[in-house]
Amino acid sequence: MKSTFPLFPDSASALSEHVDILYVIWVLISLFFTALIFGLIIFFMARYRRRHFEEVGADERAALWLEILWSAVPLLIMLVMCGWGMRVFFELYRPPADAVEYTAIGKQWMWKVQHPDGQREINALHVPVGQSIRMRLASEDVIHSFYIPAFRVKQDAVPGRYTSLWFRAEKPGTYHLFCAEYCGTEHSRMIGSVIVMEQRDYENWLSGGTAGKSMVASGADLFTARACVTCHRATP
Ligand code: CUA
Repeated sequence: MKSTFPLFPDSASALSEHVDILYVIWVLISLFFTALIFGLIIFFMARYRRRHFEEVGADERAALWLEILWSAVPLLIMLVMCGWGMRVFFELYRPPADAVEYTAIGKQWMWKVQHPDGQREINALHVPVGQSIRMRLASEDVIHSFYIPAFRVKQDAVPGRYTSLWFRAEKPGTYHLFCAEYCGTEHSRMIGSVIVMEQRDYENWLSGGTAGKSMVASGADLFTARACVTCHRATP
């Protein structure tokens, strides 16, 4: 959504539309019922106000069918929205089988990113357009949260365990990358960019940089260099 007043962040991933539609429908339903309920309250207040001091209200009961109707209709709407929400939730949390794995490690106060072939970068994430990407997240110190508003994805990076999220960028461009979990003094500066490139530009970018070793290879090197190998055995 392009406008001078950015109510909405860019919508740039395969699932961001799905999230937005669900969100807008929820807001519209809430607005409709808020207007209906407050409208009726105000209308009834005016229509049935006490006109004389001695006036006493009639002892009215709502008809049974009316009670059932105003319980069943909201229940039905809630069930539909719940099912819809679950569908979008599962889409967001189940990466497709062809997703390529990238790693991002949160550290006070930066994002360290590693590409599948070992390329590293800090506070930047270059990705090819149209490719499903699964981010494996971890933290070196405290809880951080990996957040790309334009892709509608956010996931905590927690010390001592891996978490993950996935996205497929559909529009080349540069988008915000935030830390969305308060993690200390410089939290607000723990920001970066996600740069979505055409496949060929991405290949160029990859070959232009200093390609490192893969995570597994550098782990194996550390394992030997730090003499872990003297007590632990590497699995063949
Ligand atoms: Cu890392 Cu906030």
